[in-house]
Amino acid sequence: MARTEATSAGPAADRGRRAISAKAASFTESVIREMTRLAMAHDAINLAQGFPDFPAPAEVKDAAIRAIEADVNQYAITWGAQPFRAAIAAAFERFYGMAVDPDTQVCVTCGSTEAMIAAMLGIVDPGDEVVVFEPFYENYGPDAILAGAVPRYVTLREPDWTFDERELSGAFTNRTRGIIVNSPNNPTGKVFTREELETIGGLCQQWGAVAFTDEIYEHITYDGARHVPLITVPGMEDRTITINAMSKTYSVTGWRVGWTIAAPELTEGIRKVHDFLTVGAPAPLQEAGAVAMRLPDTYYRRTAGEYLERRDFMMETLAQIELPASTPKGAYYTMADISGLGLGDDVQAADHLVREIRVAAVPGSSFYSRPELGRDRLRFSFCKQMDTLREAAGRLTRLRG
Ligand SMILES: Cc1ncc(COP(=O)(O)O)c(C=O)c1O
Repeated sequence: MARTEATSAGPAADRGRRAISAKAASFTESVIREMTRLAMAHDAINLAQGFPDFPAPAEVKDAAIRAIEADVNQYAITWGAQPFRAAIAAAFERFYGMAVDPDTQVCVTCGSTEAMIAAMLGIVDPGDEVVVFEPFYENYGPDAILAGAVPRYVTLREPDWTFDERELSGAFTNRTRGIIVNSPNNPTGKVFTREELETIGGLCQQWGAVAFTDEIYEHITYDGARHVPLITVPGMEDRTITINAMSKTYSVTGWRVGWTIAAPELTEGIRKVHDFLTVGAPAPLQEAGAVAMRLPDTYYRRTAGEYLERRDFMMETLAQIELPASTPKGAYYTMADISGLGLGDDVQAADHLVREIRVAAVPGSSFYSRPELGRDRLRFSFCKQMDTLREAAGRLTRLRG
């Protein structure tokens, strides 16, 4: 980034020609969200950004409507309305058998996006190192930059998208403050096993590091894979920040309601940052959140079953058009190998797909710090109604027509 000597002509001139901060200048806009804009411009089916095109559960919507009608319109307590925090803690105990104190261990945020950045700003000091697995969900890079952290990347490799233990342990140093773990994983569909989580936990304990775990796809797993929250691994209860949201489990990505679960001393830092970032998450939607967290097991089983059908259809579609792709064990994405398509690299292929085939996908390079690692991959999401997926499949067959 070019810099010039300071002048007295005003702040922008003081920094040279750049009107925005060095931090903001050091990352690009989200490629995923850019693909959504392109999908809209070309009337393409959006298999790029991960949001459903089917309705949210009626009970949850009704609860939100009731809350607005009851004039729950003002700020909730900054770190979350008590009934919602209590419901979050109860759900965690119900699913994972671990008690959580809603008064000291929960902070409600504006989606898991805010949860992650508030956690990093609340825990990490500038210059600290943070280990990040790649391919990664693209927010983590800017999150690290905004927190002043130095990312240390460790590669997940196919077919299982597993990590090399030596590479991982080599990434930890006495400057390591944390590691970001996303399981079930976007974009690979990997579900970290208990053994892998124990390895990560062991390194965190050895180096005094904190784990930031993005568990937003906790209830979307396949083929018997089970989500294990890292905070439940012995020794990790006081050094894990569990990040989650209503967004994916209840198909309400636009509601912007998420939360963190962490030890009281970590939660204190997160709550402080959160208060000054956003004051709080939408109050009436927190009321609905408390209802959502109490939905019966049948809801979670049905949701996972419906995603399994979508996953299988997506994998069949990709097989039919001869795009090799690893079968996800969780979440709702797959990385397909497009090297046989003859459409150029990932960016060129994504461009062709959205304009000519009218299906949007995400260039694989946007999930890597070293873009070359994803140059022959496109990420397809399948969080859509079966009819939408069938229409997308019909369009995609034209790639081989
Ligand atoms: C791994 C992961 N984390 C976080 C988010 C964003 O979550 P939220 O909408 O709750 O901010 C997404 C959305 O796609 C995601 O895939």
